[in-house]
Amino acid sequence: MEQFGPQETIKLAIIGGSGFYEPGMLAGVSEINVETPYGPVKPLMGKLQNGMTVAFLARHGRDHSVLPHQINYRANLWGLKSLGVKRIIATTAVGSLGKSLGPGSLAIIDQLLDFTKQRVLTFFEQGDVHQAHIDVSEPYCPELREMLRKAAALCKIKVRMGGCYVCTEGPRYETAAEVRMFQMLGGSVVGMTGVPEAVLARELGICYANISAVTNWAAGITQTPLKHSEVVHIMAENQAKIRKLITECLVAAGEEAQCRCQK
Ligand code: HPA
Repeated sequence: MEQFGPQETIKLAIIGGSGFYEPGMLAGVSEINVETPYGPVKPLMGKLQNGMTVAFLARHGRDHSVLPHQINYRANLWGLKSLGVKRIIATTAVGSLGKSLGPGSLAIIDQLLDFTKQRVLTFFEQGDVHQAHIDVSEPYCPELREMLRKAAALCKIKVRMGGCYVCTEGPRYETAAEVRMFQMLGGSVVGMTGVPEAVLARELGICYANISAVTNWAAGITQTPLKHSEVVHIMAENQAKIRKLITECLVAAGEEAQCRCQK
């Protein structure tokens, strides 16, 4: 793996998923171009109320033109790392696999199951054998998750702490049988973009947490066929809440990390 240069300036980043394309909580926003070995990335940069600069990347593009299996995950993560980013809060729209998390709910997940099929899952290439087997027993940063919990309590936003994210390859939704299998395996929510993003962040030593925003019951749980427009609609309704939660959390996230993710 290549090493990064000394430019260490922007410590915090947001990766916005479906329905979250603009960083409404940042002021003086401008787009920058970052070259990476995997292709260019164009994050937005802007300032929080407290003056801290934050990078924002719309995972699907700001016009939602990039499908989950087409996202250049390595370029996105490498690009943020090269800006100096140490902590990322990502959002994903998800279907709920369990009765207790209805559409509109937010979950700060703490585990994942990887059912992707044909994505590049690592930065490591041949010869990196001593570094490549990284520990992901806890794939989401515990410290950042705790910050999100505190921020939610402060803002009186209801969040479910914990839960297991099942990542499918997509771009199709699941079959009812797949959903039954994911339920049996202990999945809480299902989405298409959580992997390899979380794993690549860990490979780069970036703290990474995910806010899973439930937009629908997973396939087969109700009789209604799934539609992407519904996902976007529910996300739009939840937008203000999610922005508030992230803003509150990022204000606390400027401190040095005590967790193991960056080691
Ligand atoms: N399945 C997969 N991805 C999703 C879903 C779903 O039900 N809802 C939003 N993203």
